[in-house]
Amino acid sequence: MRKTGILFAAVAAAFLLSGGTARASDDLMERAKSLFKPIPKELKEVKGVRITPALIELGKALYFEPRLSRSGFISCNSCHNVGMGGADFQQTAVGHGWQKGPRNSPTVLNAVFNLAQFWDGRAPDLKEQAKGPIQASVEMNNTPAAAIKTLKSMPGYAKLFAKAYPGDADPMTFDNLAEAIEVFEATLLTPDSAFDKYLEGKGKALGAVEKSGLSKFISKGCAACHGGINMGGTGYYKFGVKERVAEGLMTGDKGRYKVTTSEDDEYTFKSPSLRNIALTPPYFHSGRVWSLEEAVSIMGSAQLGTMLDKDDVSDIVAFLHSTTGKQPKVEYPILPAPTDSTPEPKLD
Ligand code: HEC
Ligand code: HEC
Repeated sequence: MRKTGILFAAVAAAFLLSGGTARASDDLMERAKSLFKPIPKELKEVKGVRITPALIELGKALYFEPRLSRSGFISCNSCHNVGMGGADFQQTAVGHGWQKGPRNSPTVLNAVFNLAQFWDGRAPDLKEQAKGPIQASVEMNNTPAAAIKTLKSMPGYAKLFAKAYPGDADPMTFDNLAEAIEVFEATLLTPDSAFDKYLEGKGKALGAVEKSGLSKFISKGCAACHGGINMGGTGYYKFGVKERVAEGLMTGDKGRYKVTTSEDDEYTFKSPSLRNIALTPPYFHSGRVWSLEEAVSIMGSAQLGTMLDKDDVSDIVAFLHSTTGKQPKVEYPILPAPTDSTPEPKLD
Protein backbone atom coordinates (compact mmCIF):
# COMPACT_ATOMS: atom_id res chain seq x y z
CA MET A 1 0.00 0.00 0.00
CA ARG A 2 2.67 2.48 1.10
CA LYS A 3 4.87 1.38 -1.79
CA THR A 4 2.19 2.17 -4.33
CA GLY A 5 1.66 5.50 -2.60
CA ILE A 6 5.31 6.43 -2.99
CA LEU A 7 5.38 5.19 -6.53
CA PHE A 8 2.29 7.21 -7.26
CA ALA A 9 3.83 10.31 -5.73
CA ALA A 10 7.02 9.80 -7.73
CA VAL A 11 5.11 9.37 -10.96
CA ALA A 12 2.98 12.40 -10.17
CA ALA A 13 6.09 14.48 -9.42
CA ALA A 14 7.74 13.38 -12.65
CA PHE A 15 4.55 14.18 -14.52
CA LEU A 16 4.34 17.61 -12.95
CA LEU A 17 7.99 18.29 -13.64
CA SER A 18 7.81 17.36 -17.29
CA GLY A 19 4.50 19.17 -17.53
CA GLY A 20 6.18 22.20 -16.00
CA THR A 21 9.00 22.28 -18.57
CA ALA A 22 6.59 21.61 -21.38
CA ARG A 23 4.53 24.56 -20.18
CA ALA A 24 7.57 26.85 -20.03
CA SER A 25 8.49 25.95 -23.59
CA ASP A 26 4.87 26.29 -24.71
CA ASP A 27 4.92 29.75 -23.15
CA LEU A 28 8.04 30.70 -25.10
CA MET A 29 6.44 29.49 -28.31
CA GLU A 30 3.22 31.37 -27.58
CA ARG A 31 5.16 34.56 -26.79
CA ALA A 32 7.20 34.15 -29.97
CA LYS A 33 4.06 33.60 -32.03
CA SER A 34 2.55 36.79 -30.67
CA LEU A 35 5.65 38.85 -31.63
CA PHE A 36 6.84 37.35 -34.94
CA LYS A 37 5.36 35.74 -38.04
CA PRO A 38 6.88 33.20 -40.41
CA ILE A 39 7.98 34.34 -43.87
CA PRO A 40 5.43 33.08 -46.43
CA LYS A 41 6.60 30.86 -49.29
CA GLU A 42 5.26 33.29 -51.88
CA LEU A 43 3.15 36.38 -52.39
CA LYS A 44 0.30 36.66 -54.89
CA GLU A 45 0.47 40.42 -55.23
CA VAL A 46 2.45 43.44 -54.20
CA LYS A 47 0.85 46.87 -53.68
CA GLY A 48 -2.24 45.68 -55.55
CA VAL A 49 -0.23 44.46 -58.56
CA ARG A 50 -0.78 40.79 -59.33
CA ILE A 51 2.49 38.87 -59.53
CA THR A 52 2.58 37.11 -62.90
CA PRO A 53 5.33 34.98 -64.48
CA ALA A 54 5.75 37.59 -67.26
CA LEU A 55 6.26 40.41 -64.74
CA ILE A 56 8.75 38.33 -62.77
CA GLU A 57 10.68 37.51 -65.95
CA LEU A 58 10.90 41.18 -66.93
CA GLY A 59 11.74 42.32 -63.40
CA LYS A 60 14.45 39.71 -63.07
CA ALA A 61 16.09 40.75 -66.36
CA LEU A 62 16.05 44.39 -65.24
CA TYR A 63 17.43 43.52 -61.81
CA PHE A 64 20.43 41.82 -63.43
CA GLU A 65 20.75 44.39 -66.26
CA PRO A 66 24.08 46.29 -65.98
CA ARG A 67 23.21 48.37 -69.06
CA LEU A 68 20.75 50.28 -66.86
CA SER A 69 23.85 51.98 -65.45
CA ARG A 70 25.86 54.68 -67.21
CA SER A 71 28.95 52.45 -67.16
CA GLY A 72 27.01 49.45 -68.47
CA PHE A 73 28.71 47.60 -65.63
CA ILE A 74 26.63 47.97 -62.47
CA SER A 75 23.32 46.23 -61.89
CA CYS A 76 21.09 46.01 -58.82
CA ASN A 77 22.70 42.62 -58.25
CA SER A 78 26.18 44.23 -58.01
CA CYS A 79 25.29 45.64 -54.60
CA HIS A 80 22.40 43.30 -53.71
CA ASN A 81 23.87 39.97 -54.75
CA VAL A 82 21.15 37.34 -54.51
CA GLY A 83 23.83 34.72 -53.95
CA MET A 84 25.17 36.60 -50.91
CA GLY A 85 22.12 37.22 -48.78
CA GLY A 86 20.98 40.07 -51.03
CA ALA A 87 23.86 42.33 -49.98
CA ASP A 88 27.46 43.08 -51.06
CA PHE A 89 29.97 42.37 -48.25
CA GLN A 90 31.23 45.97 -48.47
CA GLN A 91 31.42 48.50 -45.66
CA THR A 92 29.57 51.01 -47.81
CA ALA A 93 28.41 50.53 -51.38
CA VAL A 94 30.85 50.83 -54.27
CA GLY A 95 29.24 52.48 -57.30
CA HIS A 96 29.99 54.39 -60.52
CA GLY A 97 33.72 54.98 -61.05
CA TRP A 98 34.55 53.08 -57.82
CA GLN A 99 32.94 55.82 -55.75
CA LYS A 100 32.26 54.80 -52.18
CA GLY A 101 28.70 55.65 -51.17
CA PRO A 102 27.82 56.92 -47.71
CA ARG A 103 25.88 53.89 -46.41
CA ASN A 104 26.00 50.12 -46.16
CA SER A 105 23.81 48.23 -48.66
CA PRO A 106 20.87 46.61 -46.87
CA THR A 107 19.57 43.27 -48.10
CA VAL A 108 16.78 43.08 -50.68
CA LEU A 109 15.65 39.68 -49.34
CA ASN A 110 12.22 40.02 -47.69
CA ALA A 111 12.52 43.83 -48.11
CA VAL A 112 8.91 43.83 -49.37
CA PHE A 113 7.84 43.48 -45.71
CA ASN A 114 9.56 46.69 -44.50
CA LEU A 115 7.34 49.66 -43.64
CA ALA A 116 9.41 51.76 -46.08
CA GLN A 117 12.72 51.48 -47.92
CA PHE A 118 16.24 52.85 -47.28
CA TRP A 119 17.90 53.30 -43.87
CA ASP A 120 15.92 56.53 -43.48
CA GLY A 121 12.67 55.25 -45.02
CA ARG A 122 12.67 57.93 -47.74
CA ALA A 123 11.02 55.63 -50.32
CA PRO A 124 7.53 54.41 -49.39
CA ASP A 125 7.83 51.15 -51.32
CA LEU A 126 10.05 49.03 -53.55
CA LYS A 127 8.76 50.64 -56.74
CA GLU A 128 9.77 54.16 -55.68
CA GLN A 129 12.97 52.76 -54.22
CA ALA A 130 14.03 51.16 -57.52
CA LYS A 131 14.00 54.55 -59.28
CA GLY A 132 16.66 55.88 -56.87
CA PRO A 133 19.83 53.86 -57.54
CA ILE A 134 19.50 54.08 -61.33
CA GLN A 135 19.80 57.87 -61.03
CA ALA A 136 22.08 58.23 -57.99
CA SER A 137 25.45 59.60 -59.13
CA VAL A 138 27.34 57.38 -56.67
CA GLU A 139 25.45 54.29 -57.77
CA MET A 140 24.33 53.67 -61.38
CA ASN A 141 24.61 57.35 -62.41
CA ASN A 142 22.04 57.17 -65.23
CA THR A 143 18.88 59.07 -66.18
CA PRO A 144 15.40 57.61 -66.70
CA ALA A 145 15.38 58.78 -70.33
CA ALA A 146 18.78 57.22 -71.07
CA ALA A 147 17.81 53.96 -69.35
CA ILE A 148 14.62 53.68 -71.41
CA LYS A 149 16.49 54.60 -74.61
CA THR A 150 18.94 51.76 -73.92
CA LEU A 151 16.14 49.26 -73.32
CA LYS A 152 14.28 50.41 -76.45
CA SER A 153 17.39 49.72 -78.54
CA MET A 154 17.05 46.00 -77.75
CA PRO A 155 14.07 44.22 -79.35
CA GLY A 156 14.28 41.53 -76.66
CA TYR A 157 13.10 44.08 -74.11
CA ALA A 158 10.16 45.23 -76.25
CA LYS A 159 8.95 41.63 -76.14
CA LEU A 160 9.46 41.25 -72.38
CA PHE A 161 7.60 44.52 -71.64
CA ALA A 162 4.74 43.67 -74.04
CA LYS A 163 4.29 40.27 -72.38
CA ALA A 164 4.37 41.74 -68.87
CA TYR A 165 2.00 44.64 -69.73
CA PRO A 166 -0.35 43.22 -72.36
CA GLY A 167 -2.87 46.08 -71.97
CA ASP A 168 -0.39 48.97 -72.40
CA ALA A 169 0.03 50.70 -75.79
CA ASP A 170 3.51 51.93 -74.79
CA PRO A 171 4.66 49.70 -71.94
CA MET A 172 8.36 50.69 -71.95
CA THR A 173 8.19 53.38 -69.28
CA PHE A 174 10.39 54.13 -66.28
CA ASP A 175 7.37 53.57 -64.05
CA ASN A 176 6.72 50.07 -65.43
CA LEU A 177 10.43 49.31 -65.22
CA ALA A 178 10.39 50.14 -61.49
CA GLU A 179 7.18 48.19 -60.94
CA ALA A 180 8.56 45.07 -62.62
CA ILE A 181 11.68 45.23 -60.43
CA GLU A 182 9.40 45.56 -57.39
CA VAL A 183 7.49 42.46 -58.45
CA PHE A 184 10.72 40.49 -58.90
CA GLU A 185 11.94 41.64 -55.49
CA ALA A 186 8.68 40.43 -53.97
CA THR A 187 9.76 36.91 -54.98
CA LEU A 188 13.04 37.22 -53.07
CA LEU A 189 11.73 35.63 -49.88
CA THR A 190 13.48 33.26 -47.49
CA PRO A 191 10.90 30.93 -45.92
CA ASP A 192 11.45 27.73 -43.92
CA SER A 193 14.16 28.85 -41.50
CA ALA A 194 14.46 26.79 -38.32
CA PHE A 195 12.90 29.75 -36.49
CA ASP A 196 9.95 29.82 -38.90
CA LYS A 197 9.37 26.10 -38.38
CA TYR A 198 9.34 26.80 -34.66
CA LEU A 199 6.79 29.59 -35.18
CA GLU A 200 4.69 27.12 -37.15
CA GLY A 201 4.54 24.91 -34.04
CA LYS A 202 7.53 22.61 -34.37
CA GLY A 203 9.10 22.82 -30.91
CA LYS A 204 12.11 20.74 -31.87
CA ALA A 205 13.10 23.04 -34.74
CA LEU A 206 15.21 25.08 -32.30
CA GLY A 207 17.85 23.63 -29.98
CA ALA A 208 18.26 24.57 -26.30
CA VAL A 209 20.81 27.35 -26.94
CA GLU A 210 18.72 28.86 -29.73
CA LYS A 211 15.64 28.81 -27.48
CA SER A 212 17.61 30.48 -24.72
CA GLY A 213 18.69 33.12 -27.26
CA LEU A 214 15.09 33.63 -28.39
CA SER A 215 13.96 33.95 -24.80
CA LYS A 216 16.65 36.59 -24.12
CA PHE A 217 15.92 38.37 -27.41
CA ILE A 218 12.36 38.83 -26.13
CA SER A 219 13.00 39.46 -22.43
CA LYS A 220 15.89 41.92 -22.91
CA GLY A 221 13.75 44.01 -25.26
CA CYS A 222 15.27 43.41 -28.71
CA ALA A 223 11.91 42.31 -30.11
CA ALA A 224 10.41 45.73 -29.40
CA CYS A 225 12.30 47.14 -32.39
CA HIS A 226 13.06 43.90 -34.23
CA GLY A 227 9.62 42.25 -34.17
CA GLY A 228 7.03 41.34 -36.77
CA ILE A 229 7.44 39.22 -39.85
CA ASN A 230 10.85 40.74 -40.75
CA MET A 231 12.19 41.07 -37.19
CA GLY A 232 12.66 44.75 -37.95
CA GLY A 233 11.76 47.19 -40.68
CA THR A 234 8.87 48.30 -38.49
CA GLY A 235 9.88 51.72 -37.19
CA TYR A 236 12.56 54.41 -36.75
CA TYR A 237 14.74 54.68 -33.68
CA LYS A 238 17.69 56.69 -32.54
CA PHE A 239 20.91 54.76 -32.85
CA GLY A 240 21.93 55.15 -29.23
CA VAL A 241 18.60 55.40 -27.39
CA LYS A 242 20.25 54.71 -24.03
CA GLU A 243 23.88 55.37 -24.61
CA ARG A 244 25.50 57.46 -27.26
CA VAL A 245 27.17 55.08 -29.62
CA ALA A 246 30.90 55.39 -30.04
CA GLU A 247 31.87 58.05 -32.56
CA GLY A 248 33.60 55.33 -34.57
CA LEU A 249 30.24 53.80 -35.51
CA MET A 250 28.71 57.01 -36.80
CA THR A 251 29.65 58.99 -39.86
CA GLY A 252 27.80 62.22 -39.16
CA ASP A 253 24.84 60.73 -41.04
CA LYS A 254 21.71 62.19 -39.44
CA GLY A 255 19.45 59.45 -40.79
CA ARG A 256 15.75 60.19 -40.96
CA TYR A 257 16.34 63.84 -40.06
CA LYS A 258 17.16 64.42 -43.73
CA VAL A 259 13.66 63.23 -44.67
CA THR A 260 11.57 64.96 -41.99
CA THR A 261 13.95 67.76 -40.80
CA SER A 262 12.45 67.24 -37.36
CA GLU A 263 15.03 67.43 -34.57
CA ASP A 264 13.50 64.34 -32.95
CA ASP A 265 14.62 62.36 -35.95
CA GLU A 266 18.31 63.23 -35.72
CA TYR A 267 20.43 60.05 -35.91
CA THR A 268 17.27 58.00 -36.28
CA PHE A 269 17.28 54.97 -38.59
CA LYS A 270 14.87 52.26 -39.66
CA SER A 271 15.37 49.15 -37.52
CA PRO A 272 16.85 46.72 -40.04
CA SER A 273 15.43 43.24 -40.57
CA LEU A 274 17.43 40.65 -38.64
CA ARG A 275 16.37 37.78 -40.87
CA ASN A 276 19.37 36.04 -42.50
CA ILE A 277 21.53 38.52 -40.59
CA ALA A 278 24.43 36.05 -40.30
CA LEU A 279 24.80 36.23 -44.11
CA THR A 280 25.21 39.98 -44.42
CA PRO A 281 28.15 41.49 -42.54
CA PRO A 282 29.22 44.22 -42.10
CA TYR A 283 26.58 45.76 -39.85
CA PHE A 284 24.88 49.10 -39.20
CA HIS A 285 24.24 51.94 -41.63
CA SER A 286 27.93 52.78 -41.48
CA GLY A 287 29.00 49.16 -42.05
CA ARG A 288 31.70 49.64 -39.45
CA VAL A 289 31.12 46.43 -37.45
CA TRP A 290 32.01 43.09 -39.00
CA SER A 291 31.23 40.72 -36.14
CA LEU A 292 27.64 39.79 -35.33
CA GLU A 293 28.64 39.23 -31.68
CA GLU A 294 29.93 42.78 -31.50
CA ALA A 295 26.82 44.18 -33.21
CA VAL A 296 24.56 42.40 -30.70
CA SER A 297 26.64 43.57 -27.76
CA ILE A 298 26.55 47.19 -29.03
CA MET A 299 22.76 46.98 -29.35
CA GLY A 300 22.53 45.90 -25.69
CA SER A 301 24.31 48.98 -24.43
CA ALA A 302 23.22 51.50 -27.06
CA GLN A 303 19.52 50.62 -27.34
CA LEU A 304 18.72 48.95 -24.02
CA GLY A 305 21.28 50.30 -21.56
CA THR A 306 22.24 46.72 -20.64
CA MET A 307 25.67 45.14 -20.68
CA LEU A 308 24.94 41.74 -22.20
CA ASP A 309 27.31 39.08 -20.84
CA LYS A 310 29.18 36.60 -23.02
CA ASP A 311 26.49 33.92 -22.72
CA ASP A 312 23.70 36.36 -23.52
CA VAL A 313 25.52 37.44 -26.66
CA SER A 314 26.37 33.94 -27.86
CA ASP A 315 22.83 32.64 -27.15
CA ILE A 316 21.27 35.56 -29.04
CA VAL A 317 23.69 35.09 -31.93
CA ALA A 318 22.84 31.35 -32.07
CA PHE A 319 19.18 32.32 -32.21
CA LEU A 320 19.83 34.87 -34.97
CA HIS A 321 21.55 32.15 -37.02
CA SER A 322 18.31 30.14 -36.84
CA THR A 323 16.53 32.87 -38.83
CA THR A 324 18.53 32.06 -41.98
CA GLY A 325 15.89 30.74 -44.35
CA LYS A 326 15.85 28.95 -47.66
CA GLN A 327 17.56 31.36 -50.06
CA PRO A 328 15.65 32.17 -53.26
CA LYS A 329 16.74 30.03 -56.19
CA VAL A 330 17.30 32.48 -59.00
CA GLU A 331 18.24 31.19 -62.41
CA TYR A 332 20.58 33.72 -64.01
CA PRO A 333 18.66 35.40 -66.88
CA ILE A 334 19.95 35.52 -70.44
CA LEU A 335 19.67 39.23 -71.22
CA PRO A 336 18.46 40.66 -74.55
CA ALA A 337 21.15 41.09 -77.21
CA PRO A 338 22.38 44.64 -77.99
CA THR A 339 22.03 46.23 -81.43
CA ASP A 340 24.05 48.89 -83.24
CA SER A 341 21.83 51.54 -81.68
CA THR A 342 22.45 50.41 -78.08
CA PRO A 343 24.32 53.31 -76.42
CA GLU A 344 27.93 52.54 -75.55
CA PRO A 345 29.01 52.52 -71.90
CA LYS A 346 30.34 55.76 -70.46
CA LEU A 347 33.01 55.33 -67.85
CA ASP A 348 33.58 59.01 -67.05
C1 HEC B 1 26.17 50.92 -55.91
C2 HEC B 1 25.45 49.98 -55.08
C3 HEC B 1 23.96 49.86 -55.25
C4 HEC B 1 23.27 49.63 -56.42
C5 HEC B 1 23.81 49.52 -57.81
C6 HEC B 1 21.89 49.47 -56.02
N1 HEC B 1 21.76 49.60 -54.68
FE1 HEC B 1 20.10 49.31 -53.59
N2 HEC B 1 20.97 50.11 -51.99
C7 HEC B 1 22.31 50.45 -51.91
C8 HEC B 1 22.53 51.20 -50.68
C9 HEC B 1 23.85 51.76 -50.20
C10 HEC B 1 21.28 51.31 -50.05
C11 HEC B 1 20.98 52.09 -48.78
C12 HEC B 1 20.96 53.56 -49.13
C13 HEC B 1 20.29 54.45 -48.12
O1 HEC B 1 19.65 53.97 -47.19
O2 HEC B 1 20.38 55.66 -48.28
C14 HEC B 1 20.33 50.58 -50.88
C15 HEC B 1 19.00 50.36 -50.56
C16 HEC B 1 18.17 49.51 -51.27
C17 HEC B 1 16.91 49.00 -50.81
C18 HEC B 1 16.25 49.27 -49.47
C19 HEC B 1 16.28 48.10 -48.55
C20 HEC B 1 15.86 48.47 -47.16
O3 HEC B 1 15.68 47.57 -46.33
O4 HEC B 1 15.71 49.65 -46.86
C21 HEC B 1 16.39 48.23 -51.83
C22 HEC B 1 15.09 47.48 -51.84
C23 HEC B 1 17.34 48.30 -52.92
N3 HEC B 1 18.41 49.06 -52.54
C24 HEC B 1 17.14 47.75 -54.19
C25 HEC B 1 17.92 48.10 -55.29
C26 HEC B 1 17.54 47.90 -56.68
C27 HEC B 1 16.22 47.33 -57.14
C28 HEC B 1 18.58 48.34 -57.44
C29 HEC B 1 18.67 48.40 -58.96
C30 HEC B 1 17.70 49.25 -59.61
C31 HEC B 1 19.61 48.78 -56.52
N4 HEC B 1 19.16 48.66 -55.23
C32 HEC B 1 20.86 49.22 -56.91
C33 HEC B 1 23.27 50.14 -52.84
C34 HEC B 1 22.99 49.88 -54.16
C1 HEC C 1 15.08 50.95 -29.66
C2 HEC C 1 15.10 50.08 -30.82
C3 HEC C 1 16.09 48.94 -30.88
C4 HEC C 1 16.32 47.97 -29.92
C5 HEC C 1 15.70 47.83 -28.54
C6 HEC C 1 17.28 47.06 -30.52
N1 HEC C 1 17.62 47.47 -31.78
FE1 HEC C 1 18.93 46.52 -33.02
N2 HEC C 1 18.80 48.09 -34.31
C7 HEC C 1 17.98 49.19 -34.17
C8 HEC C 1 18.32 50.17 -35.17
C9 HEC C 1 17.66 51.52 -35.37
C10 HEC C 1 19.39 49.64 -35.90
C11 HEC C 1 20.14 50.32 -37.05
C12 HEC C 1 21.20 51.20 -36.44
C13 HEC C 1 22.04 51.90 -37.49
O1 HEC C 1 22.74 51.25 -38.23
O2 HEC C 1 21.95 53.12 -37.57
C14 HEC C 1 19.65 48.32 -35.35
C15 HEC C 1 20.61 47.44 -35.84
C16 HEC C 1 20.82 46.15 -35.37
C17 HEC C 1 21.72 45.19 -35.95
C18 HEC C 1 22.52 45.38 -37.23
C19 HEC C 1 21.68 44.96 -38.42
C20 HEC C 1 22.23 45.33 -39.77
O3 HEC C 1 21.65 44.90 -40.77
O4 HEC C 1 23.22 46.06 -39.88
C21 HEC C 1 21.65 44.05 -35.19
C22 HEC C 1 22.39 42.75 -35.41
C23 HEC C 1 20.71 44.32 -34.12
N3 HEC C 1 20.21 45.59 -34.27
C24 HEC C 1 20.38 43.41 -33.13
C25 HEC C 1 19.68 43.79 -31.97
C26 HEC C 1 19.61 42.97 -30.77
C27 HEC C 1 20.18 41.59 -30.61
C28 HEC C 1 18.92 43.70 -29.82
C29 HEC C 1 18.66 43.35 -28.38
C30 HEC C 1 19.89 43.13 -27.58
C31 HEC C 1 18.54 44.95 -30.46
N4 HEC C 1 19.04 44.98 -31.74
C32 HEC C 1 17.79 45.95 -29.86
C33 HEC C 1 16.99 49.36 -33.21
C34 HEC C 1 16.92 48.62 -32.03
